[in-house]
Amino acid sequence: MPTTRLVVNPVRGGLRGSVPVPSDKSISHRALILAALASGHSDLRGFSYGEDNVATLNAFRNMGLVVDDDGQGLVRVQGRGLNGLSAPRTPIDCGNSGTTMRLLAGLLSGQHFASQLTGDASLTRRPMGRIVIPLRARGAILNGAPHPSKPNELTPPLEIGPLPDGKRLSPLEYQLPMSSAQVKSSLLLSGLYASGPTTLAEPIVSRDHTERMMEALALPIRTVGSIVSLHPPADPHAIKPFSIDLPGDLSAAAFLLTAAAIVPDSQITTRHTGLNPTRTGIIDVIRMLGGQMATSAQGETLNEPYGEITVATSRLRGGVISGELSVRSIDEIPILCALAARASGTTEFCDVGELRVKESDRIALMVRLLRAFGVEATEREDGLAVEGRPTGPLSAARIESGGDHRIAMTAAVLGLLADGQTIVEDVDCIATSFPRFVGTLRALGAEIEVLT
Ligand code: S3P
Repeated sequence: MPTTRLVVNPVRGGLRGSVPVPSDKSISHRALILAALASGHSDLRGFSYGEDNVATLNAFRNMGLVVDDDGQGLVRVQGRGLNGLSAPRTPIDCGNSGTTMRLLAGLLSGQHFASQLTGDASLTRRPMGRIVIPLRARGAILNGAPHPSKPNELTPPLEIGPLPDGKRLSPLEYQLPMSSAQVKSSLLLSGLYASGPTTLAEPIVSRDHTERMMEALALPIRTVGSIVSLHPPADPHAIKPFSIDLPGDLSAAAFLLTAAAIVPDSQITTRHTGLNPTRTGIIDVIRMLGGQMATSAQGETLNEPYGEITVATSRLRGGVISGELSVRSIDEIPILCALAARASGTTEFCDVGELRVKESDRIALMVRLLRAFGVEATEREDGLAVEGRPTGPLSAARIESGGDHRIAMTAAVLGLLADGQTIVEDVDCIATSFPRFVGTLRALGAEIEVLT
């Protein structure tokens, strides 16, 4: 199948400007789901049509919901209450989106109809035991396919339900084996259909968008430290319709902010960008490595803070990223490796074993990518170490994205600093999270082309 490639030329001047970023992918999924379960019309503004979010939107259309979309970012969901979904007409295709699959699996486990969740080649390799085990423990009927290499693991497609008539899911107390917002959110959504509370503890708090949005919508949820507890609402019309101005995605902004830090003579501002503290590890890491950065909080929407972030070209030094900082920047580790590539000394990324089961094995692919640009990197079981090359051009490279959007965008950013043209192969995947990535970089001054 022909794929699309990027041709990235070395930058001639700096990157400069103030730009919007796509709507936060995690918040957009949750807003679509809770709007579908609300009783009445909810408006999502600033929706940016990343393919992962469109997969969630289409899933609800498949379950009989009317979703009006003006194509300009205003999405109106005609929610039908907690019991208003219908059996999907066809298997639900989650595309590349692990969040769509895991969150919907929780929601669908509580329904009295059968459903099937499928996905693309990358999603079909990802572990689903982490949701199947606790959902089954509360009485869900749920099955997956055996994992090709891990004997006790399950992968998509997932076959779900139906819950027998008159039966509800059981209450659940569960300690998550890993910090995971997808697992936590899947169990909380299933908890809306349970006969008693859902109480979850995780090793380190993962992104808390589900908790914040449920609380903003007056659902009976409470968080204390890393423990969260939700009582099932007695009223199927408990969720009132709402309106949200979706904040921009800090995980997408990360590519631009890092580019500003490492490309000489640059200064970039991202506008209306999410600043949820469970996601701002990237800001802390850029600062820790010596990045020149300013943030200004501007407001909140459904409990989600947002504001403006500015980064300018910086003199960077290596450091150690571990523990809660790793959890709070887990999706940004690929682009933070690009930052580390231009820092003096060694940067170590620790406690990031989860990167091996993302859209690709991001530890293995990042080590290969860095070496292709002439940057030394060492692979570890649960992380990697990067030896920075703060001065002089990198070696121009030909990179295979492995179908992973964050690998493709990281390669494009590093290509700006190379000694010749860099080619990034297989970049259609960028549309899963940042459809306007190339246009945004060009607007900032990069010379970058898309070739089919
Ligand atoms: C997400 C949670 C994270 C993250 C993913 C989006 C979410 O995964 O990597 O891109 O929206 O809940 P975990 O479930 O591993 O935390």
